[in-house]
Amino acid sequence: MKLPVAELHIHLEGTLEPEAILRLAKQNGVTLPWPSLEQLRDQYDFSNLQSFLDLFYTNLAVLRTRADFHEITLAYLRRAEASGVRHVELFFDPQAHLERGIGLGEVIGGIREALREGEERFGITHKLIACFWRHAPAASAMEILRTLLAEGHQIDGIGLDSSELGYPPALFRAVFDYARDHGLHVVAHAGEEGPPEYIVQALDLLKVERIDHGIRCLEDEGLVRRLVSERMPLTVCPLSNVRLRTVDTLADHPLKEMLVRGLNVSIHSDDPAYFGGYLDANFEAVDRELGLTNAERATLARNSIESSFLEEPAKSRLC
Ligand code: HPA
Ligand code: ZN
Repeated sequence: MKLPVAELHIHLEGTLEPEAILRLAKQNGVTLPWPSLEQLRDQYDFSNLQSFLDLFYTNLAVLRTRADFHEITLAYLRRAEASGVRHVELFFDPQAHLERGIGLGEVIGGIREALREGEERFGITHKLIACFWRHAPAASAMEILRTLLAEGHQIDGIGLDSSELGYPPALFRAVFDYARDHGLHVVAHAGEEGPPEYIVQALDLLKVERIDHGIRCLEDEGLVRRLVSERMPLTVCPLSNVRLRTVDTLADHPLKEMLVRGLNVSIHSDDPAYFGGYLDANFEAVDRELGLTNAERATLARNSIESSFLEEPAKSRLC
């Protein structure tokens, strides 16, 4: 994949490769339920989003220090460069670290330092997005958001992730109002496992600028028309959808249909260390199974850059 692309849906903690998990566990004296690589790898067979999240949250316990966050961010950027990524908007879960007693300064300090270094070494520009857990109370998200802003931690936006079903976006309306009032960008996972109604809520109540996943929009004709007319970006993650069984196989993936319908879709990798590959692997798998035309490939790449929060003239330089 040689076209310049922006990676807009990537969870930093989802780039933790199994080897790195075991190495950091040893280094930091963390005991995991799976002591060998083989036993760890046996856990990567998911039945739905929650079964993945259970493993993902257990494994990220190995991240303890600012140096750990720096190391995994830089490792990701090195890998991203190889897959053609020119700009990244990186998600991280502040609650996953705060609840383990790791301070925001350690987490964000380590990530930011690596992002700056990555820009110098690999020429990859960046934004950083704090994702709040939808399975945790909105009051927790609000408290952390206020702290992030009051203490001057450098974030560019907020998102909403974790278990979707049973946690409608409406619960987080005040948090997103507060973020927008303070000049932050806003995105939310919606329509991955949750119904089209959650996408509508994310648009109407959270006033998001992008929908992460959003593939279930296809179940609601009126919503598809709206998303097309608003050119709302949908950050679709094909390998993730297969591994979390929101689609049966890649050959059944609706990406091509979404393109044909005129939706503003782009391809991303979500949690590449868990779902079988980085951005290049997602493009290659889609190409192999769905057969993209050159024009479709170019559209997907261009959509990713146009949907980014890059400022001009940097954005136009990449298109
Ligand atoms: N979906 C929801 N929450 C997440 C994901 C995901 O794919 N990855 C990390 N947190
Ligand atoms: Zn995601």
